[in-house]
Amino acid sequence: MTRPMEQKQDKQNLLPTIFVILGATGDLMRRKLTPALFHLYEKGDLPPLFQVIGFSRDELTVEGFRKMVAGIVRERVPGADQSTIEKFVKFFAYQHGFFEEDKGYREMASYLGRKDGEWMVCANKLFYIAASPQFYETIFRKLASSGLTKPCSPKEGWTRVIVEKPFGKDLKTAQALDALLGKLFKEEQIYRIDHYLGKETVQNILAFRFSNSFLQGSWNAKAVESIKIQLFEKEGVGNRGGFYDGIGTLRDVGQNHVLQLLALFTMENPGAFDGSSIRRARAQILRSLRSLKPKEIEEATLRGQYEGYTSEKNVAPDSQTETYFRIETFLDASRWKGVPVILESGKEMSEDRVDVIVTFRHYTPCLCPPASGKHYQNVLYYHIQPREGIDVSFWVKKPGPEMTIEERGFSFDYKKAFEGTEFSDAYERLLLHVIRGDQTLFVSTQEIMAEWKFVDPILRAWQQNKVPLTIYKKHSSEIDEST
Ligand code: BG6
Repeated sequence: MTRPMEQKQDKQNLLPTIFVILGATGDLMRRKLTPALFHLYEKGDLPPLFQVIGFSRDELTVEGFRKMVAGIVRERVPGADQSTIEKFVKFFAYQHGFFEEDKGYREMASYLGRKDGEWMVCANKLFYIAASPQFYETIFRKLASSGLTKPCSPKEGWTRVIVEKPFGKDLKTAQALDALLGKLFKEEQIYRIDHYLGKETVQNILAFRFSNSFLQGSWNAKAVESIKIQLFEKEGVGNRGGFYDGIGTLRDVGQNHVLQLLALFTMENPGAFDGSSIRRARAQILRSLRSLKPKEIEEATLRGQYEGYTSEKNVAPDSQTETYFRIETFLDASRWKGVPVILESGKEMSEDRVDVIVTFRHYTPCLCPPASGKHYQNVLYYHIQPREGIDVSFWVKKPGPEMTIEERGFSFDYKKAFEGTEFSDAYERLLLHVIRGDQTLFVSTQEIMAEWKFVDPILRAWQQNKVPLTIYKKHSSEIDEST
């Protein structure tokens, strides 16, 4: 059931808000932002006084921009109602401008001033940087120097800056970017996106871990043998070859999504369900990731590239960029001492699958059938996507005269269990959190730096070819050195 926004009376959402998208004719606007805004609008979750301003170098009129937005909704939201689309696009305005030139920012500032006058309030302003990372620095500086990100007064009209990944290319560039951001904005104004944090199943990790007492005693090195995180994708790089070839899988999804999943699975109880406690706990465990030494990198990491990658559009014919990685490391936090952590991701794999697999130790002394000689271990499969749910393998006696033990499973399917309940998309949730000023689902500077500190030495060793690139067949399900 959807409700038009006019009918919703949630006080939280009533603050007048202007949402400026820098890079509004790009891929992110098309794939994520427009559908998410449309869904929020349909559900009545946007503030009643709301405006989106697209900023881009494309010469477009407001009408042209609205047409573009309507087209995206029709393409991306099957079954969207035409009259709802027409009402929705009325929230969109357009500002032509180049990221490097003051003119567009100046015009936007005077437009925002007029809007405040028309609404007779100082609206909250949200600046979403949906542009290519090469423009980040210029945009931050211009936003700050044009006064666009200054609130009207300390008490009204907050301004927030939302920064997409990749946040830097390595530790050094991330630190430089962060230092610049820190000079121009306060940490409370900065929202660094890792869209995995907005996924329903990812948010559920905290509920699952900390609201179930039976897990508490067995969530540690004494009971857990290994933790494995796998993020597999069936697709290749598609038309993103130019972007991807400069970064590779470890920077694209390892430094951020995979490490954030690890943080949520292994962090200590944050003590409170609030942004700063949760971000602190995530940062703390990420800082305890063991930084691998050169010899360990050679032994405990694998990097691969799928066959045919170098013929993809905009990929260098002699590219050494990885489209797959596997890393085995440890967390030095006392809770996880000695437990191997395996991080793995790849494109052109046999299936789309994101899972966290926790294998429990064989319990001793075990009352196992004497003849079996088997190790009875439980495995917890936490499925992030496309299946959303949890499976636990366990052991039962096979009916019959003998004491024969067999493995079976408990299974929880999130979608089935909550049939009829709407599941919102990650970007919807993230946008809503920015509007409300909740930073829980955004990555702090401490987390970003800890992630890069871990990833940096590995990238360096790979660059020096300390770990040879393994070429693997498309649709592989497992990859090893001999693939
Ligand atoms: C993005 C990466 O951050 O995450 C993409 O740039 C990747 O390469 C994507 O495909 C995966 O996200 P999701 O939500 O589709 O699992």
